[in-house]
Amino acid sequence: MAGLSFSESVSATAADGILVVTIDNPPVNATSTHVRIGLMAALDHAERDAGIIGVMLTGAGRTFVGGADIREFGKPPLEPLLPDVINRIENFDKPIAAAINGAALGGGCEIVLACHGRIAGTAASFGLPEVKLGIVPGAGGTQRLPRLIGTIAAIDLIGTGRIVKADEAVTLGLIDSVAADPLAAAEAMVRDLATRPLRRTGQLAVRAEDTAAIDAAAQKVLGRSRGQTAPGQTVRLVISASTTPLAEGLADERATFLRLRDSEQASALRHVFFAERLAGKVDGLEKIVARKIETVGIVGTGLMGSGIAVATLNAGYRVIGIEQTEEAAKKGRERIAGILEKAVQIGRLDAPGLADRLQRLTVTSEMEALAAADLIIEAVFDDLTVKTELFQRLDVVVHDDAILATNTSYLDPDAIAAATRLPERIVGLHFFSPANIMRLVEVVNCAKTAPDVLATALAFAKRLGKLPVVSGVTEGFIGNSIFSAYRREAEFMLEDGALPHEIDAALEAYGFPMGLFAVYDMAGLEIAWARRKRQASTRDPNARYVDISDRLCEAGRFGQKAGRGWYVYPGGKRTVDPEVTALIEQARREKAIEPRSFTSDEIVTRLLKAMADEGDRLLAGGIAARPGDIDLVMINGYGFPSYRGGPMFAAGRR
Ligand code: 3HC
Repeated sequence: MAGLSFSESVSATAADGILVVTIDNPPVNATSTHVRIGLMAALDHAERDAGIIGVMLTGAGRTFVGGADIREFGKPPLEPLLPDVINRIENFDKPIAAAINGAALGGGCEIVLACHGRIAGTAASFGLPEVKLGIVPGAGGTQRLPRLIGTIAAIDLIGTGRIVKADEAVTLGLIDSVAADPLAAAEAMVRDLATRPLRRTGQLAVRAEDTAAIDAAAQKVLGRSRGQTAPGQTVRLVISASTTPLAEGLADERATFLRLRDSEQASALRHVFFAERLAGKVDGLEKIVARKIETVGIVGTGLMGSGIAVATLNAGYRVIGIEQTEEAAKKGRERIAGILEKAVQIGRLDAPGLADRLQRLTVTSEMEALAAADLIIEAVFDDLTVKTELFQRLDVVVHDDAILATNTSYLDPDAIAAATRLPERIVGLHFFSPANIMRLVEVVNCAKTAPDVLATALAFAKRLGKLPVVSGVTEGFIGNSIFSAYRREAEFMLEDGALPHEIDAALEAYGFPMGLFAVYDMAGLEIAWARRKRQASTRDPNARYVDISDRLCEAGRFGQKAGRGWYVYPGGKRTVDPEVTALIEQARREKAIEPRSFTSDEIVTRLLKAMADEGDRLLAGGIAARPGDIDLVMINGYGFPSYRGGPMFAAGRR
C-alpha cells in the first residue's frame, strides 16, 4: 500500500486499484485552499494512473468536512475554487464514493452530494447550515440536494440549516446507506460502481411534487426568517432547480452566494459564529480539571427550577429536587414530569426516554437528601435573606466537594458566598426562563470562586447543551445591566417625545421579535415596580428618573394579565391606549419637557448606543471578557436579532 501526499492536508493510499483520499485539515477539515489544491491533485493522479479503478473520499478525525473555510471569507478567493473541485468530482470518469466518517456540513455536504456513492458511518451528520451564516450554499447545494431528496425536503434542510443524522439522511435519500465500517462499505461500492454507468446527481431530474406542498414548505421557512435575506434566497434557488438547467442554476447560486457573503448580515452572523466558539473560554482555565458531577440538587422546583431540572435530566444527570413541604415536592415532581410528557406528545422524546428521566428524578422536602449531590443549584425566591439562609443550611448538609450555585438574577452572590463556610465553592448559574429551552446561561465568576469550580460550572452548562457566557459580579450581571441601560434610554425617549408603540415599531422593524414595551406587558410590570420601590431610598436624587412605569402600576396597569399595561388588549390584540398617551403627556408637562418627534432610525441608534456604552463599562470593569460575549447574551437572552450581530457589533457599524 503506497502512501501519497497531494498537499499539506490531502493524502492518499492506493490499494487493489482504489485510491483512498483523506482530508486532514484540523480542526474540522474545512475546504481551505490547500485542501482544494490537494483534492485536484488527487483527482489528477487517479485520472493518470490506469491501475486505479475508483476513488474513496474520507476525512481524518471526527469530522468528514466541516464546510468552506469561514476564515477565508473576505479574503481574495484562490484557485481552485470549491465549485470547480466539486464539478470535477461529479463529472469524473472513474467512480468516486464518499466514506463519511463524521459531520459533512456546508461545502462538505456539497462534496458528498456530487459523489457517485455515499456511505455514512453511524456518527455522520449532514446539513447545509449556510443560512446561519447569512449566506446560501455556494458549491451546488441548492441545485443538487433537490435532485436527490426533492424540493420540499431540500427547502426545509437548506432554508432552516437543520442538521440531520445518518439514519434520517438515508430516509431522505441524501445518502445511500449507513455502515458500521463506512470505509469497507464504500470500497465495495466503488468496485460495484466501476462495473456500470455512473449516476451523476447533476444529471437527475428533480422529482415532481405537489405545488401547494412546495409553497407551504417555502412559507414555513419565510415565516421564520423575518428580516433575514439568506433563507428567502435559498428557497428561490431550490425551487428554480426543477426548471433551470444545472449550469444556469449553479451560476445563479454562486452569484447569490458571493453577493450575500459580502453582506452586512453575513458579517454579523460570522461574528456571532466565532463569538460562540470563544464563549466560555477563560484564560488560565485550559488546564484546570473540572470536578466530577453525577447528581445535581435543585432547590426550588417552580417555573425556573423545573426547567433547570428538565435540562439537567435531559443531559443524563440524576436530579434531586428540594421543596419546603411534601405537598410542594409532589407538585414539583408533577411540574417536571409535565414538561417531559409534553416533549413526548410533540415527538421530541420517546416513552423509554421519559421513563429513564423519571427514574433519575427524586423530589423531596428532606434537605438531607442533598448529601448525595455534587452540584446544587438554588432557584428560590430572589431575596438576599432567603438565599443567604438557604446557603447556610446547604453548607452543612452537602459534602465538602459539592459546588453551590445560585440562579439569582440581581442579588450579589459575593454577599451570599461570604455567609458560607467555603466561599470558593460558590458560583452563579443564571439560567433564562424557560430554562429547558433557552440556550443562554450566565456563569457568574464570584470574587472567591475557585478555578476548578468555574471550570466545572462551564463544563456542566455545555453538557446541558447551553451557551455559557462568563460574567463577573455586578448588579444584573451582563444581560440585565445592558437591559437596564436599554430600558432607561427608552424611557428617556418616552419623556422626550416618542410613544411606546413608536419605540416598539422601530425595534420590531430592526428585528426584535417584540418591542420593549410589549415585552413588559407580557412579563408583567409588578416585579420591576417592587424592585424600583426597594431601590428608591438609594437612588441618586440628581440622576434623571422617569416615573411613567410607576404611574402605570399605580393605575393597576400591570400588563397583559391585567388586560392593560403599556397597551390594551381588546380580543387579545395589542392596541394603543389613548389613556397611556395622556398619562405620558401629563408626565412630560410636569417636567416642562417640550416633546419632539423621533425617527425609527434615531430610536434604534440611541438604544444601540446606550447598550454599547453600558457594554464598554462592563468591559472596562472586567465584568465581561469580550464584546462578543455581550452580543451573545443579548442575542440569546433578550431577543436581539442575531443577524445584526448584537449591540456591540451593531453599534460599531453605525
Ligand atoms: N471554517 C473555519 N473554521 C471552522 C469552521 C469552518 N467551516 N468550522 C469550525 N471551525 C473552527 C471553529 O472556529 C473552532 O475554532 P477554534 O478552535 O479556534 O475556536 C474549531 O473549528 C472547532 O469548532 P467547534 O468548536 O464548533 O467544534 P465542534 O466539534 O463542536 O463542531 C462542527 C464541529 C460541527 C463542524 C462545527 O464547528 C460547525 O458547525 N462548523 C460550521 C459548519 C458550517 O457552517 N459550515 C458551512 C460553512 S460555509 C460553506 O461551506 C459555504 C459553501 O457552501 C461554499
